[in-house]
Amino acid sequence: MKVRPLNQKAVKGKIVAVRVDFNVPLEDGKVTETTRIEASIPTLKYLIDHGAKQIHILSHLGRPKGEYDEKMSLAHVVKTLEQFLEHPVEFRSELTPGESLVQLHENVRFHKGEKKNDPEFIKELLNLKAEVFINDGFAVSHRAHASVVGLAHYLPSYPGFLVEKEITHLSPFLSDEKMPGLCLLTGGAKLETKVKILKHFALTAENILIGGAIANTLLVAKGYDVGESLYEEDELETARDILQIAQANNTGIYLPVDVVCAEDIKSDDTQEVQTDEVSGKMKIFDIGKKSIKNYTEVLNHAQTIIWNGPVGCFEFTPFELGTKKLLKVIAAQKSAQTILGGGDTLEAINKFGVDKDAFTHVSTGGGSMLEFLEGKELPGIEVLKSL
Ligand code: 3PG
Repeated sequence: MKVRPLNQKAVKGKIVAVRVDFNVPLEDGKVTETTRIEASIPTLKYLIDHGAKQIHILSHLGRPKGEYDEKMSLAHVVKTLEQFLEHPVEFRSELTPGESLVQLHENVRFHKGEKKNDPEFIKELLNLKAEVFINDGFAVSHRAHASVVGLAHYLPSYPGFLVEKEITHLSPFLSDEKMPGLCLLTGGAKLETKVKILKHFALTAENILIGGAIANTLLVAKGYDVGESLYEEDELETARDILQIAQANNTGIYLPVDVVCAEDIKSDDTQEVQTDEVSGKMKIFDIGKKSIKNYTEVLNHAQTIIWNGPVGCFEFTPFELGTKKLLKVIAAQKSAQTILGGGDTLEAINKFGVDKDAFTHVSTGGGSMLEFLEGKELPGIEVLKSL
């Protein structure tokens, strides 16, 4: 990465502003998934251990409409951060400097100027008197917001260790060259959000395994009846393009040969059928056992696996098997490189109690991971390169 690396000289004795991404899931005000908080610790510890004078942590949480909303207050995150950092954290509800070494400021998106990258709001951020800016919020680096790119124009700026690590792990997949042994597993609800990476990997991967509602759109494009399952009529042409690019480049595209269906997601009345038996009011909510077997075989022969997006509605027990089994198959790979990402994927890792250390890299990025892999320039990273 062509940016100046974070170093002791840059931070010793300095007031430092660090943008992180603590946009974590909460339930009853408690953090239920801590990956993004844990991932910020190496940079924050480094700043503490290397003599930073004061550390102002900036983050967003959720999508508030530019005003205070208790449900999205970063106050909910303080305890978890203190536990992982093993250091006290002062919470600042006002955007003003406090007394402590480590200060977590309230959700920057409570200010309208954050998303607009408004110079007036950047001035407010500068009132913290930071002398150095660090972007360690990889997951928000695709947003040209005030606390992501705005500050970087005014202060000497550096990437944090998480941003560096994400770039190191994801960069090898940007090339358009075929990569033997590369397998992409993807799912989720919207083909629209995955079109670019599917087109890219249809060129470079050896195999692509697809589940979720995305698979339904591809199945319809191939002439299957998916009953009343979710699929995207507007994306059928794109789905045909993806299939065609894959065929022209000798990339295997695997779709479910059998599926788990019900008339309603909350129903326990499920049936597992061959994909060509789906009709009428049936809705597909997971891949079936033969598909799991087919996908497992491909995964077991892959040298590199990238996974973003669950293959079924794993939040509901009757439809969890596909995601659960494939997650365990990937976790068991000993010699393959395994890279996972996306908010749903993290929740699946959590729900099924799989150890994150079983994977080569678990990306903290959702949209940012997809945009990075599409080859798009992320403003929060580009701004660091141009300085
Ligand atoms: C994410 O969860 O993908 C990031 O925190 C960015 O959030 P956003 O999509 O609301 O900008």
